[in-house]
Amino acid sequence: MGFESQEERVTQEQSVELSGSSSVAVAEGGEGVEGKKIIEVGGKRFVLDRKKAEEVFAAKKVINGIDTMTFNLLPLKYQWAYDLYRNMKANHWEPEDIPMNKDIEQWRSAEQLSDSDRWIIRMGIGYFSAAEGIVGDNIIHVIREMVTAPELKLVLGRHAHEENIHADSLLYMISSLGIDPHECEAMFVDVESIGAKNEFVTRISKDLRRDLDMTKTENIQELAKNMFVFGQCMEGTQFYGLFGMILSLWRQNKFPGIGQMFSYTLRDESNHIELLRQLLMQLVEENPEIWTNEFKDSLVDLMRTAVDLEKQFIDDCLPVESVGLNREDFKTYIDFIADRRLEGVGLPLLNEGVKNPFPWLAEMMDIKKEQNFFEQRVTEYQKSSALVKPQDDSDL
Ligand SMILES: [Fe+2]
Ligand SMILES: [Fe+2]
Repeated sequence: MGFESQEERVTQEQSVELSGSSSVAVAEGGEGVEGKKIIEVGGKRFVLDRKKAEEVFAAKKVINGIDTMTFNLLPLKYQWAYDLYRNMKANHWEPEDIPMNKDIEQWRSAEQLSDSDRWIIRMGIGYFSAAEGIVGDNIIHVIREMVTAPELKLVLGRHAHEENIHADSLLYMISSLGIDPHECEAMFVDVESIGAKNEFVTRISKDLRRDLDMTKTENIQELAKNMFVFGQCMEGTQFYGLFGMILSLWRQNKFPGIGQMFSYTLRDESNHIELLRQLLMQLVEENPEIWTNEFKDSLVDLMRTAVDLEKQFIDDCLPVESVGLNREDFKTYIDFIADRRLEGVGLPLLNEGVKNPFPWLAEMMDIKKEQNFFEQRVTEYQKSSALVKPQDDSDL
């Protein structure tokens, strides 16, 4: 790490006259100032110590980093986090820019949709309207609170904001279709499989909302567990049953607006899963003592529970089977995707050799620019990189 480019190297003799009595003098190296840069402005002398700065940089950590480093983004230690932040920012979307006219027409029509199609949408809205908030709350009040490196806080802030966009998109769907908002709350309370999925994650989040000594191995393991459950079990696995069902309907030209929104949500989720995966791996790298066989087994057990809960939820989403909506295929899909998540963090698989029953889903995840449901205004403010393939699902 250096302070200067070659061009910036000037000696005190080369001090630059600015105006009147102000002058700037920069000294590098030399007797008594080795490793330091001296800047003199208007008679004041500032000594910048590179060694000290390098020590601060070395103390940048996922947790328990140096506490004077409040928000020093530069120099970046976790380049991957900043790259992910830029990727997420480039994918920005707003729900209102997606037309809902066709969805409304279909929703009101007796011929264009079946009751089971409508039920899937109700389950989607009912589940995600709580789940998006639970994830965003955990990111802000647990994970972002505990990590210390500023570039990690930056990308986690963007993660939480994207959960707000997703929650907002659900409000937009509810108001467009004219669904009574009390119904969403009722589904949260009355549909047992939704309650069970939510309880599974909120319990883990609550365990960390107290003053914990983060130098203790068992507490670092609690945080690692939280990152694993939210990233790999919830966003990475338990979101995918409904994603698959709604995109299956979209594929049949049902709910073009909602399908579009869920495809953008899915693209965002791929980044969230990757963020929490990298964060977990980084935490383990910096605290290798947490990664015991016993701890790894406990994480695999949590994934097993997450998969069981998701399969019960699939039964509730698909009380009636129809074309492209086969219960067993969705359960196999969850087995397949859970193993991809376990693989991603170096854990043993639950169902070795299980095949993806939905190869078409990989294609739908590859959002093409030609499939432009946006109005002109949106296309204009989207970055050229906005329509990239979701990173971690490209091989599904
Ligand atoms: Fe989300
Ligand atoms: Fe998410």
